[in-house]
Amino acid sequence: MIKKCLFPAAGYGTRFLPATKAMPKEMLPILNKPLIQYGVEEAYDAGCDVMAIITGRGKRAITDHFDISYELEHQIKGTSKEAMLNDIRKLIDECTFTYTRQNEMKGLGDAILKGRVLVGESDPFAVVLADDLCINPDGEGVLRQMINIHNKFRCSIVAIMEVPDEEVHKYGIISGREIEDGVYMVEDMVEKPDNDKAPSNLAIIGRYILTADIFEIIENTKPGKNGEVQITDALLTQAKRGMVLAYKFKGKRFDCGSVEGFVEATNYFYNNILKKCK
Ligand code: UTP
Repeated sequence: MIKKCLFPAAGYGTRFLPATKAMPKEMLPILNKPLIQYGVEEAYDAGCDVMAIITGRGKRAITDHFDISYELEHQIKGTSKEAMLNDIRKLIDECTFTYTRQNEMKGLGDAILKGRVLVGESDPFAVVLADDLCINPDGEGVLRQMINIHNKFRCSIVAIMEVPDEEVHKYGIISGREIEDGVYMVEDMVEKPDNDKAPSNLAIIGRYILTADIFEIIENTKPGKNGEVQITDALLTQAKRGMVLAYKFKGKRFDCGSVEGFVEATNYFYNNILKKCK
């Protein structure tokens, strides 16, 4: 059973400046809910109840968000607005939130390594990048789908999607052999390849299931692309040692780390979720 989910949230979010000058990117809202709450809800729905968040300087709003605000609750008690806090109260009541800081932005691999003190060294765990907003209106959430596959194969899994050839340079790209519908055994993985050097157009997005031996592998992974410790490089080592799977998830993913993706998500949620609730 995977109970712990890691949220690397230490990045600077420079594509959203000046909004992210004093506010974490993960607190930007799609409609009235911050990105990180969508991610925590997805993890909770997948069966996780320990939410381990990697923060950094200027990220205190995340910690406050997952805590009770007594003054506010006192103020709106008995009014119609009280119900607006129901979802977040449920997460606060039923999950444990733990935090550690990544002091230097040394890459996603390094951020995940910092999470070792929070998720421990024995059990597999999930990783959610909250700026990738995923939904599956027709069924199980993306993380739940991945945990189902992990329960069958017991190895690390990355979520993938097909991207246009001209966009492969923005992603980690895998190649591999399809062993069942939408599930690939990873044979190669490369971080942000040149468009003409990518081994496929299957791009890794911000959902992972990792087995705990990944920590020792990251420790021994040298900085790669952009001088950062890349989780992609560590996963390739893990794939060569044993097995890593890539899973073409069912559902939609919005790149809310970019302004275009953020606007697309806002429009989608407004038209397909909010209007239908009214
Ligand atoms: P991004 O590169 O998308 O995030 O990293 P960023 O650096 O915050 O954004 P830009 O490019 O400057 O706009 C993907 C995820 O990995 C986390 C980020 O917080 C984000 O959720 N991350 C990345 C870390 O936690 N630490 C790092 O050193 C790098």
